[in-house]
Amino acid sequence: MKDIFLKACRGEKTPYTPVWLMRQAGRYLPEYQKVRSKVDFLTLCKTPELAAEVTIQPVDILGVDAAILFSDILIPLEPMGMKLEFSESKGPILYNPIRDEISMLKLRKIKPEEDVPFVMETIRILIKRLNVPLIGFSGAPFTLATYMIEGGSSKNFINTKKMMYQSPDLFKGLMDKITDTVISYLQAQIDAGVHAVQIFDSWVGILSPIDFERFALPYVQRIISSIRNRNLEKQLPIIYFAFNGSAMLNLVKKSGADILGLDWRIDISCAKEILGNDNILQGNLDPCVLFGNKDLIKERVFNIIKGAEGIKGHIFNLGHGILPETPVENAIAMVESVHELSYKI
Ligand code: CP3
Repeated sequence: MKDIFLKACRGEKTPYTPVWLMRQAGRYLPEYQKVRSKVDFLTLCKTPELAAEVTIQPVDILGVDAAILFSDILIPLEPMGMKLEFSESKGPILYNPIRDEISMLKLRKIKPEEDVPFVMETIRILIKRLNVPLIGFSGAPFTLATYMIEGGSSKNFINTKKMMYQSPDLFKGLMDKITDTVISYLQAQIDAGVHAVQIFDSWVGILSPIDFERFALPYVQRIISSIRNRNLEKQLPIIYFAFNGSAMLNLVKKSGADILGLDWRIDISCAKEILGNDNILQGNLDPCVLFGNKDLIKERVFNIIKGAEGIKGHIFNLGHGILPETPVENAIAMVESVHELSYKI
């Protein structure tokens, strides 16, 4: 197995900067569209053979240095007791949003091997077939809570913030339950064989720093310390991606993650100044740069690689998921540029 990605995750020297893309398996790939035209999204996630196939597609097509399990952060919410649907027009819908104590108390703590066996089966297939490391993942408690409370995506997250401010005990009860689920879900993925894990906190950027510290960070800290302590002998890399969190990086650092994901709103060299040299950084090209020409892509890749010089470790990525309209050849050009421009020997 090519281990450049894992070496970079551990702060070891690598011949070039490893790269993968968030949402690298997805609608911008005709090969994905072909599989997806036969089944709906949830069925795709729940059919290990197909989920494994689309996980591998970007590894072969783009030449990335890591694969990310094909699934979704909302998958564990179904066995917790939520009715989940992915609508083509509206995105995810959760039909019974959690707004009171009765519905919160009814939520189940999941047993991953029994409740979402298809996830672990997909991982076991992939471990046999992949020639690069496999990243497992989970949503972070705050981001999952927003979906559970709002009932789907949201503009201003008013129900979530109302619960935080009006019923802090209810909010804490919900977050504790989600945190327990995330820990057992990630551990099941690790036991099935993933080589690293990423915690996606896609909506935490709607919080002020004081609220991040009170309502989101403690739960991420509990997940990371628990996962780290249970997997000490594996030196399992843990990545925390707080999207839109650049204005509170000093707090994001307190998550305890080995690797911090950055969005494109901060220059990577500024992030290094704020963080010091304790963390490995992942990121952070604006996904829309992939709509520019190849010279622009090269220039922006170079800028990030230069900015990351001297950092303990760098894993190249986009600052958020690749967009469905992205030309595939530009994604390939980006991966080639990262390898070429960072080559050290
Ligand atoms: O990165 C990968 O290639 C692995 C697979 C993956 C998906 N979703 C597949 C997906 C991962 C890691 C996710 C994470 C995820 N899901 C996040 C966190 C990352 C982020 O983008 O901030 C979030 C917030 C979700 C929730 C979600 N899933 C939404 C809001 C949507 C609808 C919007 C959209 O892009 O369609 C999804 C659907 C989804 N998840 C698709 C894919 C490939 C598109 C489904 C399709 O094929 O129609």
